Amino acid sequence: MNTHTSEDLFAKAKDFIPGGVNSPVRAFRSVGGNPIFIKKAKGAYIYDEDDNQYIELINSWGPMILGHAFEPIEKAVTDAVKNSFSFGAPTRREVEMAELIVSMVPSIEKVRMVNSGTEATMAAVRVARGYTGRDKIIKFEGCYHGHGDSFLIAAGSGAVTMGVPDSPGVTKGVANDTLTAPYNDLDAVQALVDANKGEIAALILEPVVGNMGCVLPQEGYLQGLRDICTKEGIVLIFDEVMTGFRLSKGGAQERFGITPDLTTLGKIIGGGMPVGAYGGKAEIMNCVSPQGPVYQAGTLSGNPIAMSAGLAMLHYLNEHPEVYVQLENTGTKIVEGIRQILTKLNLNYQINHIGSMYSLFFTDTPVTDFSTAKTSNTELFGKYFHGMLSKGIYLAPSQYEALFLSTALQQNHIDAVLAANEEVLKSLQ
Ligand SMILES: Cc1ncc(COP(=O)(O)O)c(C=O)c1O
Repeated sequence: MNTHTSEDLFAKAKDFIPGGVNSPVRAFRSVGGNPIFIKKAKGAYIYDEDDNQYIELINSWGPMILGHAFEPIEKAVTDAVKNSFSFGAPTRREVEMAELIVSMVPSIEKVRMVNSGTEATMAAVRVARGYTGRDKIIKFEGCYHGHGDSFLIAAGSGAVTMGVPDSPGVTKGVANDTLTAPYNDLDAVQALVDANKGEIAALILEPVVGNMGCVLPQEGYLQGLRDICTKEGIVLIFDEVMTGFRLSKGGAQERFGITPDLTTLGKIIGGGMPVGAYGGKAEIMNCVSPQGPVYQAGTLSGNPIAMSAGLAMLHYLNEHPEVYVQLENTGTKIVEGIRQILTKLNLNYQINHIGSMYSLFFTDTPVTDFSTAKTSNTELFGKYFHGMLSKGIYLAPSQYEALFLSTALQQNHIDAVLAANEEVLKSLQ
């Protein structure tokens, strides 16, 4: 495979951009080698600067759930562009967007648009602190909520991939206000709550984790957290930046039937444009400025082009429930196919899967939290990653990430993904 153009671009990028990339995992550090530079994508395929074609299993880390350059979204954006790109003033589309989100996500009564998942989580925690008058938050080891200071404690995703789950530059004061617990361990949360009575403003988690690889909540876990939060007056925040509009129309909360107090959204909500949102109970959201005293603002928040893309995406998902049936089927076919290959090859690697998200962990230990995720052989993963890439399958370049499937994947793509898995896993034995 010729990747010379990507190599040249990366060499130049390193002169001008820290590490040559604008987001760390893109640098391929944990899998070795040079990142490929992307030129374009359409449907289930992504193409690099050397014109290599790959089947897409990341989909921009989630947003492209309907495949790349999906026509209704493309049209919404090209139509919107004709009316200028930003006003910094209210628009009709923001009202439509808010109304649609409230109708789709069960727990959201009021919502505020922002520009990224990171902004959404930072604001949600600030609102929870303003609402409760408390300072501390609980987060979970290996969960990633963007790069806000409060969250770079035992963080997953790129932070763990780069070996900096606790980032320099986060003050001791901020770090002291972030308490961490292992995922899927209710007793650990109860112990933290007991030791910090009346001091915890919020508990934030990914209801299904994508950022230590895909990890599912165990039976009763989400309900247990809901009960603790209700009893202790703690704001329960579901970070559904990955799972929102993916695991069902109403996200993980609809799928598991649990109602959080606040929800953070990103990725799919922008249809590929930079959008995030946070919302929830009206009583809490009424604390947000200008209605309440908790300040949060944004020059480009509710940007008309981004809203047009997001609205086209959400309308499509809302009006086509069959999308979720197709995504379930595709996920099941790929994961069951890989399971059969593992059995055939006598390998006991773990696959965690829900709907259109999955991860193959190179460990024999069932992965239920961060410490079990870390039993994975990351060197072997790196070899698997490059083997798959050379066979034209584009995976996330880290063991600690989930894969995100799209409706553009058809049976021929599924067959190709499974054939590549069989060949590569065999070659690693
Ligand atoms: C669960 C979760 N929350 C928050 C974020 C941060 O979103 P963004 O990268 O848009 O700032 C991410 C990003 O991957 C995420 O997965």
